[in-house]
Amino acid sequence: MFTGKGGVGKTTLSSASALFFSQKYKVLLVSTDPSGSLKEIFGIDFGEGVKRVKESLDVVELTRDTVLRLWREKFGDEVYTVISSFFPVKEEILDYIEGAPGIDMEFMLDYVLTALKSGKYDLIIWDTAPTASILSLLQVQYMFYSHLTQAQRVYLKIKSFIKQVDPLSLIEKWRKLTAEIIDMLKNDTSAWIVSTPEKLPVEQALFLAKALQEFGIEVKGFILNKVLEEGICSECEFLEKKRKTQKKWINYLLNQAKFPVKVVYEFTEDPTNETFLSQISQTLYERVY
Ligand SMILES: Nc1ncnc2c1ncn2[C@@H]1O[C@H](COP(=O)(O)OP(=O)(O)OP(=O)(O)O)[C@@H](O)[C@H]1O
Ligand SMILES: [Mg+2]
Repeated sequence: MFTGKGGVGKTTLSSASALFFSQKYKVLLVSTDPSGSLKEIFGIDFGEGVKRVKESLDVVELTRDTVLRLWREKFGDEVYTVISSFFPVKEEILDYIEGAPGIDMEFMLDYVLTALKSGKYDLIIWDTAPTASILSLLQVQYMFYSHLTQAQRVYLKIKSFIKQVDPLSLIEKWRKLTAEIIDMLKNDTSAWIVSTPEKLPVEQALFLAKALQEFGIEVKGFILNKVLEEGICSECEFLEKKRKTQKKWINYLLNQAKFPVKVVYEFTEDPTNETFLSQISQTLYERVY
């Protein structure tokens, strides 16, 4: 996964990496970034569902609407079965549940898990939404797990009053699924934390590294993006000052970071075509600062 503060280059670096690794492996690039910039990068309107971009590269943009529609298709009947065994409700209850915080986040990960288990891909590259939502996404996993554990207990207590169906097996199935998602995050996921060489993104990157590590996600390292190259214009006072400020935050990160730091330089043009993206991936997977 590529994670970090808004606008630091997560989508650009995810796309560059997806193109790079698809030369050797079967890759799925999943974006759960609400700004959905993959369309501009690949020149394709992804719409819903997986699109093949190259022989070994599939791309899917998971918007909240898509995720909720898929959630309903996959779990709607089951959820209704469980709830209607407790309360006399109509299927419209699903509209209400759909709006509950965390449902979309939980299902995004179920989508990734299904893709992983399909065996179709060697590597799944996940372009995440900015920091705050990724942290709540992780929190939601444990909330779901403990919620479903409680639901089982509650259900056992009132079991004798409910005759129509046995939702206990469904609750157990969801609980197992949540455990599998947590397991996937802990054992099959690693994170690159992206930052620009400025105070706020760097502080956030360090905070993220700690939070991800505490959760049990492997942190591969930091990527400092949009770094001004030394000597690009030694006579330009503004650029030189800017470079000095950047240097301060680069050093700060290097001092604080417990993981490798890689550097991607600032381009003069928007790195949205394959030539730039492949230049990025070369620096990314060769150079360590
Ligand atoms: N090394 C670079 N040099 C120049 N421009 C860059 C570089 N990396 C990214 N950009 C540009 O910076 C902008 C933000 O990049 P990108 O959309 O990849 O960030 P993001 O972290 O995905 O943003 P968001 O948090 O909004 O999803 C884009 O216009 C992108 O083309
Ligand atoms: Mg993005």
